[in-house]
Amino acid sequence: SQPVRIAPSILSADFARLGEEVRAIDSAGADWIHVDVMDGHFVPNITIGPAVVKALRPHTAKPFDVHLMISPVDPYLEAFAEAGADIITVHPEAGPHLHRTIQRIKALGRKAGVSLNPATPAKMLDYVLEEVDLVLVMSVNPGFGGQSFIDSQLRKIEAIRKQIDRIGKPIHLEVDGGIDRDTAPRAIAAGADVLVAGTASFRGGPDAYAANIEALRGG
Ligand code: DX5
Ligand code: ZN
Repeated sequence: SQPVRIAPSILSADFARLGEEVRAIDSAGADWIHVDVMDGHFVPNITIGPAVVKALRPHTAKPFDVHLMISPVDPYLEAFAEAGADIITVHPEAGPHLHRTIQRIKALGRKAGVSLNPATPAKMLDYVLEEVDLVLVMSVNPGFGGQSFIDSQLRKIEAIRKQIDRIGKPIHLEVDGGIDRDTAPRAIAAGADVLVAGTASFRGGPDAYAANIEALRGG
């Protein structure tokens, strides 16, 4: 199996010093930078848009893992691709044509991800799994950092891991929400290979970031 990657969510960073925060979490060992984009419509919170992604792009060479919690989503794909997103992940409920949305992301030269809310079944992937580069299982209801991990999502991760292994393509299986040093090993055991962590990455300030990330790897 693939090595576990850690994708700190900058939602938990200090927004007044976001460039420095991205540099600090990069040098602390982050594999990817997870960017949570919320529109106050698809989810009950508003965060950042393509202008901020673009402003952060020169601060790190690590992949930008952009999680779009916005609806509609299609009109914004190009802006996020041009701003420097490497992976663009969408929710199936964000538009009526998920397959087309995935094709558009790939046509923009970016990796495409699909994210499933806690109540959304793995079955939603049946006709698109072979098309995607990443599946993101939400282990909290999207909208806010600092929520508790929902245990039922482990079964979903296990089921999707089996499907990915059956297909035999290097599709990432990412988990997002309530990941800390206790839930990380459970998500990994269920089959996740990318862990998003906001609170657990950024707690304690820059001096703690390297140890925070190491703890999530099981160190
Ligand atoms: C939730 C976001 C997550 C969130 C994770 O809507 O998609 O990425 O920031 O935060 P923690 O790790 O604090 O649960
Ligand atoms: Zn996220």
